[in-house]
Amino acid sequence: MLTLLKLLQDGRFHSGQALGRALGVSRSAVWKQLQQLEVELGLSIYKVRGRGYRLQCPLSLLDQDVLNGTGVPWEHRIFDSLDSTNAEVMRRLSMGSAPPFAVIAERQTEGRGRRGRRWVSPYAQNLYYSLALRIDGGARQLEGLSLVVGLAVLRALRSLGLGSVGLKWPNDLLVGHRKIAGILLELLGDPADICHVVVGIGVNVNMQLPAEEIDQPWTSMQMEIGAPMDRNVLVARLSECLAEYLERHKREGFSVLREEWEASHLWQGKQVNLIAGVQTIQGRVLGIDVTGALLLSVDGEERAYSGGELSLRLSDDS
Ligand code: BTN
Repeated sequence: MLTLLKLLQDGRFHSGQALGRALGVSRSAVWKQLQQLEVELGLSIYKVRGRGYRLQCPLSLLDQDVLNGTGVPWEHRIFDSLDSTNAEVMRRLSMGSAPPFAVIAERQTEGRGRRGRRWVSPYAQNLYYSLALRIDGGARQLEGLSLVVGLAVLRALRSLGLGSVGLKWPNDLLVGHRKIAGILLELLGDPADICHVVVGIGVNVNMQLPAEEIDQPWTSMQMEIGAPMDRNVLVARLSECLAEYLERHKREGFSVLREEWEASHLWQGKQVNLIAGVQTIQGRVLGIDVTGALLLSVDGEERAYSGGELSLRLSDDS
């Protein structure tokens, strides 16, 4: 089935006869595989009499050989389908795989978002990427880590033509008020000693879903740039940027990156509501401190907030 998908990924018409010849199977076997592609992977295939079959939209499939040829800084393991790339990295770490290594999937059936949310992960349209890291510098090496990952994703996207993308504390990437990428860090082991961090990154790349299938405003690289993005190029650029930023963070800590982060913070100076469980704190964004905590002016006082369960919304009057 995947060989057939590779033949069809260009989005052009292919006759049943040509596909059968390339696969070494009959035309009715091709037909069965096409149906499987539609049912199992949720892809739409057009059939036109006299011309053959084509995908509704061209696909940019992940390719191990292409990635290996780009000189990526760590091993990338590509999967067709996973529950969650973060979950797969966790399993591999528990079985003794040595970091750093990245796991990427064409789709996720149980993609995880922050605060227990689902991350919608249709086949071959976006990037679902998880990187395993070993942390042996104690709590300091974790300080601001998720914000540093945000900077790396930001640089990768900007370098590929997305000039208008910015950050929203703690680690969302937005174009205007629409989300284009999200980051989920998960920890394995004792943060005070040696531990592992799973850096999960989801980027909306060539997503074709109707807007209302996701419960928050979103956009994609294709929508912003106006042309489909080669996902292998994106993976290679992302890994390169991550390697640079993570190395700098390890060497010098988060404080040297604080100003750079604030310069790209879309909500700097805005009036916001910070949701912390059942509590809502109203304030104005002053910036972040050297640990990556959010600084708010609340009732004229400066206060710092950090923690994975916090969420920021703009106040109506902002
Ligand atoms: C967010 O809610 O903003 C974080 C989304 C993180 C999604 C990515 S996709 C790759 C990795 N695997 C997961 O299950 N989640 C992260």
